[in-house]
Amino acid sequence: MLMLSWPISAPDNWLKAMDAKPVSTADLVAAGIERHEARWLLEEYGATESPELLSALSRRLAGEPLQYILGHWPFRGLDLDVDARVLIPRPETEELVSIALSELTRLKISGPKILDLGCGSGAIGLSLSSELANAGISSTVVCVDESVEALEVAKKNAEKHRIPGVAFIHSSWFDAVDPLWAGSFDLIVANPPYVGDVEFSTLDPILLHEPKSAIVSPDIDFVPGFADLDVIIRSAPKWLAAHGTLICEHSDIQRDAAMNTARMSGFNEIDDLDDLAGKPRVLVARR
Ligand SMILES: C[S@@+](CC[C@H](N)C(=O)[O-])C[C@H]1O[C@@H](n2cnc3c(N)ncnc32)[C@H](O)[C@@H]1O
Repeated sequence: MLMLSWPISAPDNWLKAMDAKPVSTADLVAAGIERHEARWLLEEYGATESPELLSALSRRLAGEPLQYILGHWPFRGLDLDVDARVLIPRPETEELVSIALSELTRLKISGPKILDLGCGSGAIGLSLSSELANAGISSTVVCVDESVEALEVAKKNAEKHRIPGVAFIHSSWFDAVDPLWAGSFDLIVANPPYVGDVEFSTLDPILLHEPKSAIVSPDIDFVPGFADLDVIIRSAPKWLAAHGTLICEHSDIQRDAAMNTARMSGFNEIDDLDDLAGKPRVLVARR
């Protein structure tokens, strides 16, 4: 998960000094906003002083993530609504979607059935559904989250982008998924919480604005933050079709645990890919 930078504080009286003047990127940078964020804010609120811009600035200078202030954030082709009910979708998860699309191409399935575990804003499941539809492929996507609030955001994003054929299920992982769907998913994708409590306490405090339940998972067998991944990897074979694939994001210290758990769970072909920063990131386990 990407860490966003913590802004330095605004010079005293800066907000007052803006009195109804045009506002430039340089003004915002001088106040302690990073240049790329300054551009986002001016594009969203306009380059003149307004109550909305001032409010956004004071929220950002108080440490709130830019994405929650804007209320939306791009993820692949979708502009997703995001707020404090959901994790801010990360660039490395965009890579997971590319891996999932390649896997579906490899599997040559005409109408894939996909399960997105821990859907949050809907980033992975909605992107897959929408990009497959753009390629003329109709899919069935089931989005699961144990957070009712996250499911509300994901549903709203599906409506916003008019993405049909997506089911939303309130469930802890597979617990409330219809047992009749066992053995039927071509693809299971997941970006579960995978940060251990100890590591979490060392991370940038901006992460405290996001739901802790989306980020932190208990340790298991001395592997920090691995408990949710452990459940998902062990349970997935039962829910996958005979040719199906599990694709899971994990932290850079969890590669061995993820691959070993997949091996012990009966997956036949197991791979693990680096992210664009060269860090271990995505388990690809085929039945
Ligand atoms: C890291 S976030 C990922 C959100 C989204 N998929 C993304 O990639 O941006 C993890 C998500 O898993 C959900 N989650 C945590 N524990 C869960 C559980 N036991 N069952 C289902 N979902 C869970 C959280 O509510 C959160 O939405």
